[in-house]
Amino acid sequence: MSSRWPENVGIRAIEVLFPAQYVDQAELEQFDGASAGKYTIGLGQAKMGFCSDREDVNSLCLTVVSRLLERHHIKHTEIGRLEVGTETIVDKSKSVKSVLMQLFAESGNTDIEGIDTTNACYGGTAALFNALNWIESSSWDGRYALAVCADIAVYAKGAARPTGGAGAIAMLVGPQAALIFERGLRATHMEHAYDFYKPDLSSEYPTVDGKLSIQCYLSALDICYRLYRKKFEKQHPEQSQRGLQNFDAILFHTPFCKLVQKSVGRLSFNDFLLSSEQQRLEHFAGLERFNSATLESTYFDRDVEKAFLAQSAEVFASKTKKSLLLANQVGNMYTPSVYSGLVSLLIGGPAADLVGKRIGVFSYGSGLAASMYSIKVTQDVTAFEKFVAKLDYVLPLLNAREKIAPEQFSALMEVRERNNHAAPYTPTGSISALSPGTYYLKDVDALHRRSYDRTPTITNGVH
Ligand code: HMG
Repeated sequence: MSSRWPENVGIRAIEVLFPAQYVDQAELEQFDGASAGKYTIGLGQAKMGFCSDREDVNSLCLTVVSRLLERHHIKHTEIGRLEVGTETIVDKSKSVKSVLMQLFAESGNTDIEGIDTTNACYGGTAALFNALNWIESSSWDGRYALAVCADIAVYAKGAARPTGGAGAIAMLVGPQAALIFERGLRATHMEHAYDFYKPDLSSEYPTVDGKLSIQCYLSALDICYRLYRKKFEKQHPEQSQRGLQNFDAILFHTPFCKLVQKSVGRLSFNDFLLSSEQQRLEHFAGLERFNSATLESTYFDRDVEKAFLAQSAEVFASKTKKSLLLANQVGNMYTPSVYSGLVSLLIGGPAADLVGKRIGVFSYGSGLAASMYSIKVTQDVTAFEKFVAKLDYVLPLLNAREKIAPEQFSALMEVRERNNHAAPYTPTGSISALSPGTYYLKDVDALHRRSYDRTPTITNGVH
């Protein structure tokens, strides 16, 4: 039966942006008076990217969208929908999307649907789903969609500060994609929770209940995974009861890397609970003592956590570890986090190894909204290798970043804190520290109108 829908809808191009400056987490441990190893081993973080007052969510989005269009030679008139997911709110009414329309002015293309979507780190996934849905709807006019996610993740001084970060991702969405979204395989869980929220509109900092946030994350993971498994097994009865074996790679929203490692263990614990007696004997030998354990009673159960971390170590190493590169080196980007995991996976080995593979994705946003879905990599080796080769700038850019001492990082955070929403305001952060082709905040006038400039681009389109 032929489908009325366009074929193979998904991501045709992806661009990532992270700050040009970082603070070293081992140095931050010392500066904060935390015990050595707490941030680096306990949380699994090596470096944290941050922005001075020269960058805001608008500038991050301007940079990432411009770079994607330039790198892939996409004309501004070829875009018919542009969605932004962010939780970094600089204006309670004017969307980031409307700011991005500056980039399209010269082309005369104002016929671009989509605005901003907000729910903590989940906004990027909502933006992406909106873009995919448009391509598959009767409203589609044949042009591409862009899903953009960007955030500046900053916390007040204290336990949560080392779990900050910043970044942006832009994804070009259309048919005949390199990364194809599997139809009917989205599992969502949404619920009311006060785990992490931003009630103080004058501050960039969230109010966080750290322990509750971890419990909410893990319970949303349990629920989404079980629902995904049900939907998958209905579509593929011949592959039922295979659990994690049905994924070749698994990506997670990554507030800090250690939680992701624990999440792989948690999925393995779910597989264990859902398995038959025979399967338990074959795959989970030695774990019989957990036969009557429940999900609800084990979010912080050290025995369960340790046993299933060990049981899933090989799955973590082969299916998830590579995806943590940017999260480990930049930190929590909020909405782009899980998509930076996708980029890390793509650049983490020979492209040919991923051809035809299934990638599981878990997206989580506090408050809370979560989805698990899967992506199938195209079977077209040449097209996929070209798609991945476009990401050859990522590692050089990552290695070219400037390390900033914790004292200076802390001082720059104070500048952001003091001047958040100040008007008129002229930022003082360094422009020369920014990489080529970066948009930055020039000034904010007395009426809070923000204007931007761009560092010179490199003419061959590589930034
Ligand atoms: P904390 O409570 O101070 O840390 O802050 P801790 O005492 O739990 O220590 C962290 C880990 O380090 C522990 O490991 C310690 O044992 C270990 P665990 O026992 O849990 O495996 N540790 C050490 N390891 C080695 N050497 C040492 C050492 N000392 C301790 N010397 C917390 C941690 C995550 C609560 C805090 O950073 C926080 O509140 N962060 C923000 C909230 C967050 O990231 N939550 C994650 C889930 S919610 C989410 O993902 C949504 C989010 O992205 C927002 C959005 O949606 O927009 C955050």
